Amino acid sequence: MKVAIIYSSITGNTKLLAETIKSEIKEEIVYFGKPITEEIDADIYFIGSWTNKGDASNDIINFLKKLKNKKIAYFGTAGYGGSTTYYDTLFSRVKQYIDHSNTILGSLYCQGKMPIQFKERYIKMITENPNDKNLEVSLKNFEDALTHPDKKDLETVKNWTKEMLR
Ligand SMILES: Cc1cc2nc3c(=O)[nH]c(=O)nc-3n(C[C@H](O)[C@H](O)[C@H](O)COP(=O)(O)O)c2cc1C
Repeated sequence: MKVAIIYSSITGNTKLLAETIKSEIKEEIVYFGKPITEEIDADIYFIGSWTNKGDASNDIINFLKKLKNKKIAYFGTAGYGGSTTYYDTLFSRVKQYIDHSNTILGSLYCQGKMPIQFKERYIKMITENPNDKNLEVSLKNFEDALTHPDKKDLETVKNWTKEMLR
């Protein structure tokens, strides 16, 4: 069985997931890296992205759109954590780019730390809107995200990888 791992990562969180998936795979890995235009011939495609304004990254969206008759296992990271409903919403958006001829083996999301600029923006907004409770939640989420992906997340990724290959 041939496996390809294609991912997009700006600050390293999704890359860490991709590397963890790679470490679990005993089968032949025919490709590991960012999306490319050349055809990648594999039996299973692990495809991963960071979350950009509620969606996958553009390069991953374009890559997904081109796939036909493939087996896909999708993984993502997002700054917001702790809500499977949120992750379901994110994946339902990603699914729209996947042609029906493909088989989606599964999907997995985990929280990933965000750039410090997010915190600075929240603090500025809180100063301007001191009664906005949502901003407090966003700030707390920022702090919670700082340790992710953590050891437990990566264990989950490992188990999910095995499941996808079964
Ligand atoms: C421009 C930008 C937009 C983002 N939009 C979202 C978003 O809509 N929802 C979310 O949960 N996280 C969002 N994030 C957070 C990232 O998706 C998250 O930190 C992710 O783990 C980064 O992955 P990477 O390290 O692989 O680049 C955004 C980050 C950036 C820089």
